Amino acid sequence: MSRKILVTSALPYANGSIHLGHLVEYIQSDIWVRFQKMLGNICYYVCADDTHGTPVMLRAEKEGITPEKLIDRVWHEHKADFDGFHVEFDNYGSTHSVETKHFSETIYKNLRNAGLIEKRSIEQFYDPIKQMFLPDRFIKGECPKCGAKDQYGDNCEVCGAAYAPTEVKNPYSAVSGAKPELRDSDHYFFKLSDLRCQEFLRDWTTKGTLQPEAANKMQEWLGSGDENKLSDWDISRDAPYFGFEIPDAPGKYFYVWLDAPVGYMGSFKQLCEKDGINFDDYWKPGSDAELYHFIGKDILYFHALFWPAMLENAGFRTPTRLFAHGFLTVNGEKMSKSRGTFITADSYIKQGLNPEYLRYYFAAKLNGTMEDLDLNFEDFVAKVNSDLIGKYVNIASRTAGFITKQFDGELMEMPESVHPIFGQSVIALSNEETDRADINPQSVNKLDASYEDHLINNSRELLHEFQLASHDLKIIYENRDFAKASRLIMRLADVANKYVSEEKPWELSKLGIQAEKLHFACSLSINLVRILTIYLKPVLPKLAVQVESFLNVPPLQWSDALQTLPGGHTINPYQHLMIRVDQKQIDTMIEANKETLAPTADSHSQVRHAESQQHAIAPIAETISIDDFSKVDLRVAKIVNAEHVEGADKLLKLTLDIGEEKSRTVFAGIKSAYDPEKLKGRMTVMVANLAPRKMKFGLSEGMVLAASGDAPGLFILSPDDGAQPGMRVK
Ligand code: MSP
Ligand code: ZN
Repeated sequence: MSRKILVTSALPYANGSIHLGHLVEYIQSDIWVRFQKMLGNICYYVCADDTHGTPVMLRAEKEGITPEKLIDRVWHEHKADFDGFHVEFDNYGSTHSVETKHFSETIYKNLRNAGLIEKRSIEQFYDPIKQMFLPDRFIKGECPKCGAKDQYGDNCEVCGAAYAPTEVKNPYSAVSGAKPELRDSDHYFFKLSDLRCQEFLRDWTTKGTLQPEAANKMQEWLGSGDENKLSDWDISRDAPYFGFEIPDAPGKYFYVWLDAPVGYMGSFKQLCEKDGINFDDYWKPGSDAELYHFIGKDILYFHALFWPAMLENAGFRTPTRLFAHGFLTVNGEKMSKSRGTFITADSYIKQGLNPEYLRYYFAAKLNGTMEDLDLNFEDFVAKVNSDLIGKYVNIASRTAGFITKQFDGELMEMPESVHPIFGQSVIALSNEETDRADINPQSVNKLDASYEDHLINNSRELLHEFQLASHDLKIIYENRDFAKASRLIMRLADVANKYVSEEKPWELSKLGIQAEKLHFACSLSINLVRILTIYLKPVLPKLAVQVESFLNVPPLQWSDALQTLPGGHTINPYQHLMIRVDQKQIDTMIEANKETLAPTADSHSQVRHAESQQHAIAPIAETISIDDFSKVDLRVAKIVNAEHVEGADKLLKLTLDIGEEKSRTVFAGIKSAYDPEKLKGRMTVMVANLAPRKMKFGLSEGMVLAASGDAPGLFILSPDDGAQPGMRVK
């Protein structure tokens, strides 16, 4: 009986690009899903963009477009990134969908009917200029503990203290700079403190749904015995907010984290409509389908407490298990925009690096726990080149040519290899047993040097050993210990290479009389390649397709490992499967990530960098009066267009909106520092009353302000969020 499985990955925020850290998650889930599909299980994999909330709203405003337009553009970017890394969702949706709206409302109403929603007035910071309530992240000020300036409203990056936004000293709005005021507003709460939720969660979090580390964390959060540590959860936000309005509560919106996980249901519902799947089979209580959420450890709280409590009390089934993973570091440090290690998925692909290098590298590091993992580029290059090219691809490239040239591409029949007990044990192993069964320690550890020598001299047993691994690997993959899987597969690849080295087909082919021996050795090698390809296919799906076409076989399934290719089967001529990674490509990619991100998104680290360099500054100019200064009319300008100027080495042509009827054209000498595409939609500051100047390329109607020093680099100015085109700067 095949299992029915629904798998999700966390929904990426629609206000940023996919980076290599995200890919730890999506690649990991994709590998597991592909494995399940190869086993013949019914397995669906859905995800969506997480589109709601204040950051998306403000970013759209800054770019001068509607939130709908922004999330549509980002959806396409995200989708292209996932396609690029062969992450194959059965449906990729958006939380801004009718389906997600429907389920959010249903869940809310059911919770309300169960008496678990409460309206309460709370005091919150309000931005009087921007006229909106401020999320904690948008309040800044001095840390109440150490006094560090410009810290966020919820925690201090300098001393690490956590606090309430109301404790921050001299708070200001990160949106407008205004001093926030405390105001009252009605909010809706999900009553997690209710005994029903407490009792349910104590049970749910301790019955094998979580990894042990996660379960421990939850007990800390839940408290034990009588102490009730869970407080009610504020699920509403006031307008203006980009999200779904709460039924019967005009001007109140669902908080983004209320509808985000509901996006799993919304996206799956779309798949059901497309493919005729019964939604209730997967989501109603008592469902025999399995539901798994892959998530990062940072969002465990939402998935292990809020989400199951919502589902349970709103009449839906709860997740079978959560699979939480750790965070990615690059070269041992947190990803950093200034070091160029905040690498976007897009820049990796654009650099021409094969996505399967990264899939393999991550697989080799992922062990199904919540430990962080490090992408060390030196190790990355060494591992990919040694394992994939040096071991796996090498077997075929050393043997296939002889089959094609000397035997018309035809393979020899392989000896019967399947051990009777082995054949039974695999078939008898039901799913329940898979969950509990431990890996046969014998077969994994048997591969020591003397055992290898034995295998190489006994082709039947060699083949048998390769097939036996399918039993162990099935359990290892099921447990998401991809690191262990890749170690075992590479050990098998080592044995296969040793076999080729011992048989020396290049010498057998010279002797001529040894044709049969040559034919057998190469045929066996090709069969071993085929089996290894099955085992690697969840990780390297595109490479597997290339090998399938070289082997001239239909798409390989997991159970195919137990068969060999029949005698007389014809393979196609071998073509190179994969090229080596070059350290230079990595260096270029890191450089590219420094360039594209430094001037815009990471202006803070740029400033810090500049401070640390302690350059002597240019001397301060002669003193002027305030009247002198006010002669200069500076205005906030929106860059509506930016383009290269034919024949100009230094200039970009900017079209600026300063709130006048007609936009202005300004030629600015900033080509060396900015990609025009990246400037479009940005706000800056211009001198609006400078006498127009006729230039070779046209009339320049003003000047944009930019900072520069002795060190290379040129930086145009940006006003704080909230400034509008035409505002005077004084
Ligand atoms: N939108 C929420 C998830 C809502 S799920 C109902 C969110 N989005 S995110 O874009 O910030 O992250 C998406 C996933 O990527 C999360 O599981 C997160 O843990 C993971 N990662 C983001 N950065 C990561 C690393 N640097 N390393 C590993 N995983 C990372 O959270
Ligand atoms: Zn502090």
